[in-house]
Parts: sequence; C-alpha cells; structure tokens
Amino acid sequence: MSSKPLSFPIPFEVQAPTCPVITDKSVLDAIGNTPLIRIHNIGKEYKNVDIYAKAEWKNAGGSVKSRPALKMIEDGEKSGKLTKDKIILDSTSGNTGISYALIGKVKGYKVKLVMPANVCKERKGLMADFYGAEIVTSSPFEGSDGAIIMAREIYEKDPDKYFMPDQYNNDSNWQAHYETTAQEIWKQTNNRVTHFLAGIGTGGTVMGTSRGLRDLNPDIKCYAVEPAESLHGLEGLKHMESSIVPGIYKEEELDGKISVPTEESYDMVETLEKQEGILVGHSSAGALVGALKLAATIESGVIVTVFPDSCERCYVNFGQFKKYYENESTHKIPKAD
Ligand SMILES: Cc1ncc(COP(=O)(O)O)c(C=O)c1O
Repeated sequence: MSSKPLSFPIPFEVQAPTCPVITDKSVLDAIGNTPLIRIHNIGKEYKNVDIYAKAEWKNAGGSVKSRPALKMIEDGEKSGKLTKDKIILDSTSGNTGISYALIGKVKGYKVKLVMPANVCKERKGLMADFYGAEIVTSSPFEGSDGAIIMAREIYEKDPDKYFMPDQYNNDSNWQAHYETTAQEIWKQTNNRVTHFLAGIGTGGTVMGTSRGLRDLNPDIKCYAVEPAESLHGLEGLKHMESSIVPGIYKEEELDGKISVPTEESYDMVETLEKQEGILVGHSSAGALVGALKLAATIESGVIVTVFPDSCERCYVNFGQFKKYYENESTHKIPKAD
C-alpha cells in the first residue's frame, strides 16, 4: 500500500461511501433524501398495515422545514426579489426560522424572525446564538397568528429593506415537498404507499406531498393531522378553525382531517422512545397518533407519515423526561466512562 498521505479534502472517489466527508460540498446539499423508518412495535396489532415515518430531523437545519426554506430562498434569488442587500424576514414557530438562519448564514444574508415569545428557548438559541439571526418576539397569547401579523407590519413599514418569503402563502413551500418528499416516499416504499398523512402548520408538507404522491398514483389517500384543541401544546401545528388559514392550505383536496389530542401526543413521545428507540418532537408523536387512528379504520395498507423534528429541541421546557433532571442527586443517570 502506498504511504503517500491523502490530500485534504479527501477526493470523493476514495471516501468510504457510508461516511462521506462533505467539506467541499455545501451543508445545504444535506437537505432532503431523509431515511424512511419502519415503526415496528407500536401498532403491530394492525397486522396488515405497515407504518413508516420520514426522519426529517436528518435534514441540515434539523427539521422538515429546511426543504421549503431552501426552495423559497432560491426561488426568491431566481426571481430577482432576493438580492444581497435585503434582509430575509418571516414569521415562524421555530423550525423554519432555524432553517432560514442556517441558509442565510451559508449564503450570506441577514435574517430577521418574528416568533411568539413562548417558543422554546432551545429553538431561539439555535437561531440567534449559532446562526446570528435577529429575533423579534410577538405576544405569547396570540400564537403563530400574532407573529404573522407582526411580520407583515414590519415588512409594510419598509418593504424595500426586506425579502419576505411569507411561508403561509408561498407556493414554493408546498412545491418543495412535491418535488422532493413525495418522490422519495414513492421510491422508498417501492411504489407501495397507500395512505399519507402529515401535521398542518403552514400546510406545505401535507399539500405538496399529497399532490406529488397522487400524481404518481391517484388512489393514494391523504389526510391532515390537526391538534384536537384550539389551545394545544403541539408546537409547529395549527388548529384551523381558530387560526388564520394559510393561503397554501386547501383542505378540500384532502380525504380528511385527523384530530390528535395534545395529552395523547405527549405520551406518544415517551412510547416512541421506549418501544422504538426513536426520540422525536411532539408534532411527530402527534403524527403517529394520527397514523394509528387511521390504521384502525383500514383493513390493509402502507401508511407513511412525517416526523418533522427530534425531541432535543424542546423537551426540557415541556417537562418531557423531567425524571432525568428534576432531582439529579437521587437519580442515577449512567455516566460515560
Ligand atoms: C415541529 C413542526 N411540525 C410540523 C410542522 C408543519 O409543517 P408545515 O408547515 O409543512 O405544515 C412544523 C412547521 O413549522 C413544525 O415546526
């Protein structure tokens, strides 16, 4: 074997295929192509139904929202509306903000984000401290609607200063899922997917993926997952009857809506951890609660849903896994050697 050292970055041809070094590519290339995970234990009573979930926390930026954030920004560049002197401004419940902040940092744009004051501090910290975005907070009592209204007010005062993607009304949002998420699910299930469901925030995931899948097979049934309560604890999701309905959300195109209670979804975070070894956020757990409700109504099928983010972002604030830090002196957490 030659003792000549390899130059750095290591050329792609000689990298181990399972562990590529991506230093000479952009981190933004690690958006999309997420794994599809089979849920093995939960719901196994539905013998002829397989349930799968897209592991969206694997995207650079850590959530499903990196897909639409990238497309909205790149379509803004292509249209000429986003130029280097503009600040990217939008309202967000957290995940889109993290993605905007990451993409802004990589591409060299300033980013300003409006979010409700009660969005968990882990998300705000990621945006502000790691990626340098400016954060403006709206009333914690007005939820995502308060943030939408405040972002519009900031934009209208000085429209030349900002590029506002407006994720709730931007077609590039759902198109990102039409072009990527739907295609991936189709290939990863070997064209076997029969049912699709996803939580509604802006509606981008559920609308774009449903349209993409139905263009591939019109028989695929598609559903939105919605919090059962107007005052709920599923960060990232919207209760439509009591909210400003996003312009890109077209409920009439879907086969139905599945309601998921906050309490049941919180419990499912722990069930997923214990029974599947999967650590995800509340909206992912809500999506699985919805998938199980759907599984109970069908004789057979391949159900696919989306797990938007991992649990590390917020679980401390919401009291999940409290047992590990509440009384540290009496709890025996295994220590690394
Ligand atoms: C945690 C989480 N789940 C689900 C969603 C919903 O995704 P979409 O906006 O595509 O409807 C979001 C959106 O921000 C989110 O942050």
